[in-house]
Amino acid sequence: MPELHSYEEVRRRAAKVLPPTLFEDMTHGTGRGVTARANEAAFDRVDLVPRAAVGWEQRSLTTTVLGTEVSMPVLAAPVGGLRMVHPDGAPGVAEACGRAGTIAVVSMMAGHGVDAVADRATGPVWQQVYLSHGHERCAQIIADARRRGFSAIVVTVDCPVSPKRPVGLSISLASARAFGPELVRRPGWTARFLRDGADLAAAQQAMGPRLRQTALWSDLAWLRQQWGGPLVVKGIVTAADARRAADAGVDAIVVSNHGGMSLDGSPATLSALPAVVAEVGSEVEVYLDGGVRQGSDVLRALGLGARAVLVGRPTLLGLAVGGAAGVTAVFELLRHQLDVSLAMVGAEHITDIDPTYVRAPQSWSSVADPSTHVTIGGAG
Ligand SMILES: Cc1cc2nc3c(=O)[nH]c(=O)nc-3n(C[C@H](O)[C@H](O)[C@H](O)COP(=O)(O)O)c2cc1C
Repeated sequence: MPELHSYEEVRRRAAKVLPPTLFEDMTHGTGRGVTARANEAAFDRVDLVPRAAVGWEQRSLTTTVLGTEVSMPVLAAPVGGLRMVHPDGAPGVAEACGRAGTIAVVSMMAGHGVDAVADRATGPVWQQVYLSHGHERCAQIIADARRRGFSAIVVTVDCPVSPKRPVGLSISLASARAFGPELVRRPGWTARFLRDGADLAAAQQAMGPRLRQTALWSDLAWLRQQWGGPLVVKGIVTAADARRAADAGVDAIVVSNHGGMSLDGSPATLSALPAVVAEVGSEVEVYLDGGVRQGSDVLRALGLGARAVLVGRPTLLGLAVGGAAGVTAVFELLRHQLDVSLAMVGAEHITDIDPTYVRAPQSWSSVADPSTHVTIGGAG
């Protein structure tokens, strides 16, 4: 696996590997893709504020998330359908993340079960769940995760219905025929998919039908009781919902809009972060995902109060390019960029990054403070 130099390069190369419809399906975002684009664009609006003439020969990117040491504050986000991207799938991501000294968050819809992931994992794994397939299915996955030593459960709360996507998770050998011309143009992907396809179809059937909404607030108590370990809620973009989650006793929150794969029009996560941190940052760990594409983006998120970030598309596109080795290359690229950015802003430890290193639009933080809301036609 050759070295990678930028996210754009990973994206370009993945576009040449994946069938175009699948590539589009997994990267564009729902609707017009407004939220998916806004997530990325929000990072352009945050300045990094460097300390000049400060030099640290040795810098450290090490931090902790939920008490686990990670070599950098970048985790793999849970992505459904990874097995379609490359047969290495979530087990390959877990292997790469362990090698990179970080954590893989594995989607319940990734196409591989808990055992397949655990067999190949080389580091800590968190299991993502939906309640959409019912409590029984969820309880089984949690029991499997406990048996295999996973360290946290992440429950996703921002996708109450399945948006229509051209491929979604429904691809099977039968439906793949519909993409015939595309498959001929992507022989490497097609050969891998055909070798693995029967298993993929079986894995999807085993999940069973969708039964209900993703998760409700009332499910959190049930989840805590089922699992007993660290519980993370993923898919919060308002201070009010962050408050509910913290009051429900969760250990961490992921400020996330599903990478723009759920509600198109939901605010950019980076712009939503300051209000969430102001509300619950002293009580629970707050992470962010959506639009993180390079090392300096990680600094921006940390400067606005995130403890760590998760990356979805970078992970899945790295997997497309080179399987587990491609994911490793993406994480090493992010590590290199993050280290350089840390040097450039004149900081020694990643944990030194605080709000003094960033300058964000004022409107982002005023949301947390009702006294700054302006009443139209009133005194303000
Ligand atoms: C193709 C695709 C599938 C996803 N599947 C899931 C999933 O199964 N569960 C989940 O919690 N989030 C899922 N997400 C959302 C990611 O976990 C994450 O929030 C998002 O990708 C972050 O944005 P980024 O892709 O810009 O890094 C998915 C995202 C993508 C792009």
